[in-house]
Amino acid sequence: MPDAFHARITAELADIDAQGLTKPERVIQSRQGPEIQVGGRRVLNFCANNYLGLAGDERVVQAGIAAQERWGAGTASVRFICGTLEIHKELEHAIADYLGFEDTILFAAAFDANGGIFEPLFGAEDAIVSDSLNHASIIDGVRLCKAKRYRFANSDMADLEAQLKQARADGARDIIIATDGAFSMDGYIAKLGEVRALADKYDALIMVDDCHATGFLGPQGKGSFAHCGVKVDFVTGTFGKALGGAMGGFICATKDVVALLKQRARPYLFSNALAPAVCGSSMEAIRIASGEEGDKLRSQLFANAERFRGKMAEAGFNLLPGEHPIIPVMLGDAKLAQDMAARMLELGVYVIGFSFPVVPRGAARIRTQMSAAHTFDQIDEAVEAFIKAGLELGVI
Ligand SMILES: Cc1ncc(COP(=O)(O)O)c(C=O)c1O
Repeated sequence: MPDAFHARITAELADIDAQGLTKPERVIQSRQGPEIQVGGRRVLNFCANNYLGLAGDERVVQAGIAAQERWGAGTASVRFICGTLEIHKELEHAIADYLGFEDTILFAAAFDANGGIFEPLFGAEDAIVSDSLNHASIIDGVRLCKAKRYRFANSDMADLEAQLKQARADGARDIIIATDGAFSMDGYIAKLGEVRALADKYDALIMVDDCHATGFLGPQGKGSFAHCGVKVDFVTGTFGKALGGAMGGFICATKDVVALLKQRARPYLFSNALAPAVCGSSMEAIRIASGEEGDKLRSQLFANAERFRGKMAEAGFNLLPGEHPIIPVMLGDAKLAQDMAARMLELGVYVIGFSFPVVPRGAARIRTQMSAAHTFDQIDEAVEAFIKAGLELGVI
């Protein structure tokens, strides 16, 4: 064993720790929900992407069990060899119908959907114009593609226009604008109305990553594009957040785009099919989210977000502005964010400090996330804990 290699790894870990950037894994001893068990204690949970509260919902869990009973543990195959079950086709149709697209391709994760979308569809003659705050998986997906890259400052429409102009001046064949529908670290919602207008002006396509929007933003929870009242060409998303919280990703697009992706997208061609239990749970979550119950859950979710945001602002915390149920409590220093999260856990509230490289250096924060499953009492309890910890640590 080369000792120098292992010494380097140990030193790198020590360096991460010294900067207060270590991200510990806290072990949860219960089902996901607004209240969870951690270290043998019940604590309030304010950091899951469990927007509609469906991750621990008994109907969603039972639908997964039923699918596993019917279809087994999995396919032991990628989709095109012998891994396409009826339930995969059902899920593809369910999500396409829900979001209003012709067809869908499933992936093991949205990370893979973003990793697989660009390279098969765009070549060296094309241009990808990408928001600077886009999720890591979009950035990686763009890197895997030969298209020329352009970057615009987060939601800066003047910069987007400048980049589109440049791409046209450089002679791009096709141009695609790639953006998160809601930016995961800040909770900012993309200005898709303006993006649409610029896309029309410069004859560009739009790809939206709606991992933090599908199921709860816009009418029927169809996502950020519906929230902004526009159509887009491609939506990538996840079943790992609002839609049941299991795992798995998808791309919604036209029939031909999906057909080509099924021939060429590498994470689809070279990775196992989604497990039946995941498909069953996700379909039940789509059924709930797309119906009247979904409307009630969405109202509760946004009422919770408004209450938390109002009380925290009143207490003097520095919050990023917005309306999304992601509500970042800005702290700046990475060590402070870790200390604050640790103190909050002692006070019975599970939140996580986010620091570099997940957010820019000096912009550490506690990113709180509301769920429809939270009660007003739980929100108030969390605010009280924040105030106590905030006063102790000199944050407010
Ligand atoms: C904006 C965004 N895109 C993609 C992903 C990846 O989703 P998945 O967990 O399904 O791979 C995430 C998850 O963190 C995300 O926040």
